[in-house]
Amino acid sequence: MKKFILGWILGWVAIFVGAFLYVRSGHAPVATNSGPLPMETFFAKTALHATVAPAAKLKSPLPVNSDNLFGGVMVYNHNCAFCHGEPHQNSKIAEGMFPRPPQLFTAHGMVTDDPVGITFWKVKNGIRLSGMPAFQSKLSQEQMWQVSLLLSHANQLPAAVGAALK
Ligand code: HEC
Repeated sequence: MKKFILGWILGWVAIFVGAFLYVRSGHAPVATNSGPLPMETFFAKTALHATVAPAAKLKSPLPVNSDNLFGGVMVYNHNCAFCHGEPHQNSKIAEGMFPRPPQLFTAHGMVTDDPVGITFWKVKNGIRLSGMPAFQSKLSQEQMWQVSLLLSHANQLPAAVGAALK
């Protein structure tokens, strides 16, 4: 039993020393154009998913109507488009970021499958260590819901709303 505990402690010490030497080596990826750290994507995605999951229950206090979708367009054009792109124009600045901001009006980047409460949570609180800002001190609750409704209906927007996106 003693040997087992000693082996267990030494195992953890070796992991921590190895990780420390790796980050001190000057070869760990810190530039935005290098790949992720080992396990970085797994830990970041798992932590984000676990934290955000309860927000799936949040219901929008606003209905999906053209006033709110146009309100969402105003918010999006001024606060989001330069990172998340527009329907026919991907963001140039996104190419230099890590992680890359998803292009929210492309088939691959849309969040239309996410419950609107999850999108609202991300807009309100931001995503740490990613460049995604928290907007709770910049936008009103109404504006955050409007832009969240816009994104969750990005694949079925009325033509006039789509045209109002820059
Ligand atoms: C400075 C750049 C930047 C701005 C401005 C920005 N975002 Fe983001 N956003 C990001 C990045 C980077 C991510 C990816 C985070 C990650 O990979 O975990 C992200 C992620 C998201 C996600 C999650 C996407 C997914 O696939 O789950 C949503 C939703 C989102 N942003 C909405 C918005 C909205 C709405 C605005 C404007 C109110 C906005 N963002 C403004 C950089 C930005």
